[in-house]
Amino acid sequence: MRSEKEVEYLLKAVDAFQKRLIVVSPKFKILVAHCNFNSINDSDLPGKLCYQIFYGRDTPCENCAVQQVIEHGRPSLRPQPMEGSDLEKMSCFSAYPILSGQKVEAIVSMDFDLPTRGEIEQQLQNTNILLRKLILNAVDGVIAVDKTGKVLIFNNTATELFGYTIEEALNSVNIREIYPEGVAYEVMRKLRSEEYGGRGKLRSYQVDVLDKQGNRIPIDLNAAIVYDNDQEVASIGFFHDMREILEMKAELEDTRVQLLQAEKMASLGKLAAGVAHQLNNPLSGITLFTKLVLEDYDLESGARKDLSRVLRDVKRCRDTVKELLEFARQTRHLMQPHDINRAISRTLFLLENQSLFQNIRIEKELDPELPAVKSDIQQINHLFMNIILNAAQAMDGKGRLTLRTGLLPGGDRVRIEIADTGPGIPEDILPKIFDPFFTTKEEGEGTGLGLSLVYGIVKDHGGLIRAESQAGKGTTFIIELPLNPTVKGE
Ligand SMILES: Nc1ncnc2c1ncn2[C@@H]1O[C@H](COP(=O)(O)OP(=O)(O)OP(=O)(O)O)[C@@H](O)[C@H]1O
Ligand SMILES: [Mg+2]
Repeated sequence: MRSEKEVEYLLKAVDAFQKRLIVVSPKFKILVAHCNFNSINDSDLPGKLCYQIFYGRDTPCENCAVQQVIEHGRPSLRPQPMEGSDLEKMSCFSAYPILSGQKVEAIVSMDFDLPTRGEIEQQLQNTNILLRKLILNAVDGVIAVDKTGKVLIFNNTATELFGYTIEEALNSVNIREIYPEGVAYEVMRKLRSEEYGGRGKLRSYQVDVLDKQGNRIPIDLNAAIVYDNDQEVASIGFFHDMREILEMKAELEDTRVQLLQAEKMASLGKLAAGVAHQLNNPLSGITLFTKLVLEDYDLESGARKDLSRVLRDVKRCRDTVKELLEFARQTRHLMQPHDINRAISRTLFLLENQSLFQNIRIEKELDPELPAVKSDIQQINHLFMNIILNAAQAMDGKGRLTLRTGLLPGGDRVRIEIADTGPGIPEDILPKIFDPFFTTKEEGEGTGLGLSLVYGIVKDHGGLIRAESQAGKGTTFIIELPLNPTVKGE
């Protein structure tokens, strides 16, 4: 028992305390109050219901600390009401039991306005909610995993990127499964090393990941290890999808290559057109005067034969010049129906007398019924020129070159095959041959732009191209073109 003096001091201490302190019964009836509430006398409060007096409610408050004490018999610290929170939902936030044996006889409720544990907990909770929201809605995929690779966090963008639902990811995905084999290990090795942004950090690392279907997705990865007392406890990765950026880069590169080629072709075309014009006049002169000599002079048959040969050869020169002009015609992209067989023959006509073609047997299996293909003929000429030249170069000037055309079943596409008996294309370089600047030729001999141009032309015509090759047996380029493409260039 305390002495009267002690009791007196305790009461004075409560006064000095200047905070609301009330004692209520388990039925929320105020037994004693020290609060100066709304200028009501403390002495008028006993007997009233606390929730009515303090909060103007008809029923006990939600989240009531007193209620908690009644239920559990232990002190209760409720979260502090936040600024702007709904007054209806407010309640006392700290309460302590006055026990009589095991029973709660009464409850002391005290409210502090200094930061209390409850307030700090609430702030922490709010920060956690904010962080969670930030992570869940981040524009990059965010994945956090524990030491074993088990997924702890998998945000919304990660679900879009990888195709797993959050539940699937949390319950059945290990981080190793989202990388191609061995890559997860490599990522962890780099994370632990000092070299890639400091220990425990990995900055802007280009890597492929696998979605649920096993498709590869190029990613820019930023990652970090989470340490607790120098112990690795988890790691977190931010996955930035690079597909769109890479596509844009490829398109840019494509355009650059097309421009480069167009420039090369344009200057070649100008040169050819210039030379052709220069040749046309003397060729007309030779033809005219040869004919005159043949008509005006009574020549012996040997001389006539020789002059006829001159005429024949001049005609061939004029045809060449005509084809050259046609080939190098400086037209804007014009999509018109053209005879593909004729384009092939024209290219062969220009090439077959070159020394490179002297020992190449040319076999034409061109479908005479082939319908016209709506196309930009200048581009188609370049296409054949590049493929046929490649074939002749690959065969090193000897072998067989077969050109086949035909209409595909369905009647709306033509198929063109250009086959050589050269050394073939090794399997490992076959996927690269259409890449710009890819060449196996010596420096100065090839730019590696030929097939990338071909690829661009076929694409512009809404068609497909692929190469089939067997080492030692030659290569076949197969092109399919729609008769009526609905693509750009029209
Ligand atoms: N018919 C073929 N047989 C074997 N290899 C070929 C054939 N056609 C192309 N290639 C390979 O593909 C590569 C790329 O060809 P592409 O036409 O793009 O460039 P290039 O011929 O090397 O150079 P450029 O065409 O600018 O002179 C060639 O270097 C060669 O290795
Ligand atoms: Mg080439």
